[in-house]
Amino acid sequence: MELPNRVVMAPLTRRRATDDGVPTESMARHYADRAGTGLIVAEGTYPSRRGQTYLNQPGIADAAQAAGWRRVTDAVHERGGRIVLQVMHGGRVVHLPDGAARDIVAPSAIPVPGTLRLPDGERPFYVPRALRTDEMPAVVEEFVAAARRAIDAGFDGVEVHGANGYLLNQFLSPTTNQRTDAYGGSPANRARLVVEVTRAVADAVGADRTGLRISPAGVRNSLDERHVPDVRDTYGALVAGLTGIGLAYLSVLSPDPAGELVQGLRRQFDGALLLNDGFDLVTTRTAAAGFLADGLADAVVVGRPVLANPDLVRRWREDLPLNEPDPATFYGGDDRGYNDYPLADAAAGVG
Ligand SMILES: Cc1cc2nc3c(=O)[nH]c(=O)nc-3n(C[C@H](O)[C@H](O)[C@H](O)COP(=O)(O)O)c2cc1C
Repeated sequence: MELPNRVVMAPLTRRRATDDGVPTESMARHYADRAGTGLIVAEGTYPSRRGQTYLNQPGIADAAQAAGWRRVTDAVHERGGRIVLQVMHGGRVVHLPDGAARDIVAPSAIPVPGTLRLPDGERPFYVPRALRTDEMPAVVEEFVAAARRAIDAGFDGVEVHGANGYLLNQFLSPTTNQRTDAYGGSPANRARLVVEVTRAVADAVGADRTGLRISPAGVRNSLDERHVPDVRDTYGALVAGLTGIGLAYLSVLSPDPAGELVQGLRRQFDGALLLNDGFDLVTTRTAAAGFLADGLADAVVVGRPVLANPDLVRRWREDLPLNEPDPATFYGGDDRGYNDYPLADAAAGVG
């Protein structure tokens, strides 16, 4: 895939699908308005009912959801854009009122610590069920079926979500993975499922249409990957397992993009590396340009600035002022804070 610029729209969960996880016209407009980014990575989308994490999160688990996504991909392509779908299985991270009635799965039966805030109050996070070894092929198949549906719905590719404490990341970390079978224990064993899923998706839809997102040394959703030698070995095993298959890209989320962990993975990986420097600071034009100028990455992944500026590429190119993202409208709601951020010309009163 050739991109017209090096700004990639980050996957951003916005919780604006229908109650059944079907993408809407409003979502089609949102993504089409951002078709000027080099590549759009559409928000984390569940491959199966049990992979769902949030209310009004979109899915790619059935035909109705796929048909909704078709509207989105058509709208983006009409505007000349490129769009891939992030396939996200939440594993133990479930923010749903009916979680107790669901089959919540994880590497081990260890819940997210603390409490879950729901519309009707707080409760402890649900205790997940540890997947049996003989269930692993079915987990791989959940991703493969979702990837096939995504391509059939018009996506240019698929990004496997291996970051931010969701199911695949739960396998990577020893805090959430205490298995004693081939999927737990050593770094290579903990990396096994991510490698199997990514390879199977690449086999199904083409390696050149498959990317993977990781967040080495991440702490989101109560994961703890702060033990540096183990993190290096685990992600080293992961990248080793993906060498030679010709993936479209590896997308890395890390607050220390210039550090040895990330740049070591970059040297080891044999494809394009996309970079995002994490949640703590909103990506800036200066930081993004710096990553590229310093040769740290092939493209930058940009979240909140694209959320608030549909025409971010133009604004950054011409160094125009930016709209500020409004966190109050990030998750759920109507078109406010979603489809009403003005373009630069409109903001200046010109157009
Ligand atoms: C509202 C919101 C939703 C997000 N949803 C996702 C998601 O679905 N998948 C994912 O991998 N990261 C998600 N992230 C992380 C972003 O992709 C990105 O890494 C983060 O916002 C930092 O980049 P930024 O400073 O450019 O915003 C989300 C972040 C925000 C603010």
